[in-house]
Amino acid sequence: MNTVRTVATLRATLAPDRPAGRSIGLVPTMGYLHEGHLSLIRRARAENDVVVVSIFVNPAQFGEGEDFDAYPRDEARDATLAAEAGADVLFAPPESEVYPAGFRTAVEVEGVTEVMCGDPARRGAGHFRGVTTVVAKLFNMAQPERAYFGQKDAQQALAIRRMAADLDFQVEIVVCPTVRERDGLAMSSRNAYLEARERERATAISRALEAARATVAAGTVEAGLVVAAARAELDAAGVEAEYLELRSTEDLTEVERVNGSTLLAVAARVGRARLIDNAILEAP
Ligand code: PAJ
Repeated sequence: MNTVRTVATLRATLAPDRPAGRSIGLVPTMGYLHEGHLSLIRRARAENDVVVVSIFVNPAQFGEGEDFDAYPRDEARDATLAAEAGADVLFAPPESEVYPAGFRTAVEVEGVTEVMCGDPARRGAGHFRGVTTVVAKLFNMAQPERAYFGQKDAQQALAIRRMAADLDFQVEIVVCPTVRERDGLAMSSRNAYLEARERERATAISRALEAARATVAAGTVEAGLVVAAARAELDAAGVEAEYLELRSTEDLTEVERVNGSTLLAVAARVGRARLIDNAILEAP
């Protein structure tokens, strides 16, 4: 595997692939790789001739007072893991390469970014503006046939799909299932912030999603009741949700009952970590 740090080197590295008809799969990450990331890399490996993994802790998507400085970083370990999972190229640019002096452009998706994590009282739409801006840049830098994202960040995946469609990016957006620890906790680089007792409390989040799933499977589809079943698990563990909402998987509008497939999304702070998770509930 080849580690490259500039857009020019990335382009030069990939230049022979397109004319030779080799497909490029891109996996954007902020590093500190875990099995969730590695599942995307393996999927990209299976579906493409060339796999590019990017690692860039993107300052533009962190708000004032968020964990940009504390965000865990270990590029040497990431390089080993990415190579083992099948990456051909690791693109790890410095901040000055992505946002050179004078940089003044943003890509902003409306609608799906204005609720849940994008609610102005929470992270705000500015978080997603940072995400879509850097992902648009990565799409232009690597010009992949396919790009891989995790369902764990359901709202992010929807915003990126919207952006790719609206701006005519010639890339297939592939969304992969959430990878979990054995006790159900969704894998996240931010789980590194959890102390042992917080780590235990955090399992209430996936239990809450499972309780909702069981409620729906038993025939209850009314939003208030489904959400209450989930909230009871959080309450029992003393985990307070920032939000716990049932929304359309298509456009994140609120729904009054589970119909077809419906997203149950949750965000909660446990200790220093702000954790998010979701489940797609299917009406019986
Ligand atoms: P990061 O949090 O590093 O995640 C990189 C990719 O891995 C995202 O598509 C995310 O949804 C996926 N992912 C994270 N945890 C996962 C899990 N447990 N199972 C499956 N997939 C998982 O998301 C970002 O970085 C950034 O916002 C980025 C898209 C790179 C833009 O900066």
